[in-house]
Amino acid sequence: MKAAFIEQYGGPEVLKYGDLADPVAGLGEVVIDVVAASVNGADWKVRVGQYKQSKFPFALGRDFSGVVSAVSEGATDLKVGDAVFGVCEAGQEGAYAEKIAVKAAIVAKKPDALSHVDAAALALTGLTALSAIEDTLQLKPGEKILIQGGAGGVAGFAIQVAKHIGAHVVTTTSAANQAYVRGLGADEVIDYNASDFTKAVSGCDAVFDTVGGDVAEKSFAVLKPGGRAAFIASGAQAPKPDRDDVTALRPPVGRARRHLERIAELFQIGAVRPPEVKLYRLSEAANAHRVSEGRHFRGKLVFKVR
Ligand SMILES: NC(=O)c1ccc[n+]([C@@H]2O[C@H](COP(=O)([O-])OP(=O)(O)OC[C@H]3O[C@@H](n4cnc5c(N)ncnc54)[C@H](OP(=O)(O)O)[C@@H]3O)[C@@H](O)[C@H]2O)c1
Repeated sequence: MKAAFIEQYGGPEVLKYGDLADPVAGLGEVVIDVVAASVNGADWKVRVGQYKQSKFPFALGRDFSGVVSAVSEGATDLKVGDAVFGVCEAGQEGAYAEKIAVKAAIVAKKPDALSHVDAAALALTGLTALSAIEDTLQLKPGEKILIQGGAGGVAGFAIQVAKHIGAHVVTTTSAANQAYVRGLGADEVIDYNASDFTKAVSGCDAVFDTVGGDVAEKSFAVLKPGGRAAFIASGAQAPKPDRDDVTALRPPVGRARRHLERIAELFQIGAVRPPEVKLYRLSEAANAHRVSEGRHFRGKLVFKVR
């Protein structure tokens, strides 16, 4: 099969396009002929060697949408020809490829109305946003939430879920992406280049940070007493608050079919729409990574694999 893979850690140039062996379905697994796979913020971190978990060569990529082409023993609830989407198990990469083998239990049927490109765009970002907003922060109607990095993949989904719950949503973005995040439903938009977000918003019940670094550390300042903050871009642990009347949380982002089915449900009821997508071919993976690593685009970068 064709794939975009690495044989060593390094810059975007280490991404090669070529042939890797076809995967075989292990017990409880299905092989999926990948139609689309998306670029996630984690992928360039894997490429540079921040997660040293794989043997070379290996294809990058964590989420995909495609069609089941082989079913092993134990994968009884899916059949050849089913259109499915999903996210690799934590620690597994391999979606930048024409085929992938994954546990059947962690993929879900793709709604007909959702294209493969949009399903791939929504899979890991949606699962992460749901883990943060619904499971971890347990956001409630009427609460005020600051979502950091509104134009990104995870945050764009989170804005829509938070609005669907009935929260008041404040988000940060550069000037170029203000209209985009308003279109996703944000009630208030802070241009982080023009103003200090810690002065522009206060009294939040919750914060969801997808940016990391200083932005994460400073986010505690906008919480009201008793507030809670969830962090996904600060490594495996949430940063430690500099005050003792708020809670810092690290969403687990576990892989589960139920989250994918929730993404499908939110799409079908019109609560969530797919992000703006920029399409690439697998042979253009290095270019897609340059854009992703630059961290100033909007929506999602998606490979149209077949
Ligand atoms: N399992 C997990 O824990 C998990 C899962 C998914 C993602 N993540 C992590 O979550 C983070 C976000 O992922 P993603 O794929 O959603 O990111 P992304 O799409 O790569 O985020 C890019 C966005 O960040 C915005 N941005 C950059 N700097 C900003 C700032 N200072 N303030 C506000 N917005 C800023 C950019 O908007 P502008 O152009 O407007 O600046 C751009 O739209 C990554 O670090 C990723 O590794 C973790």
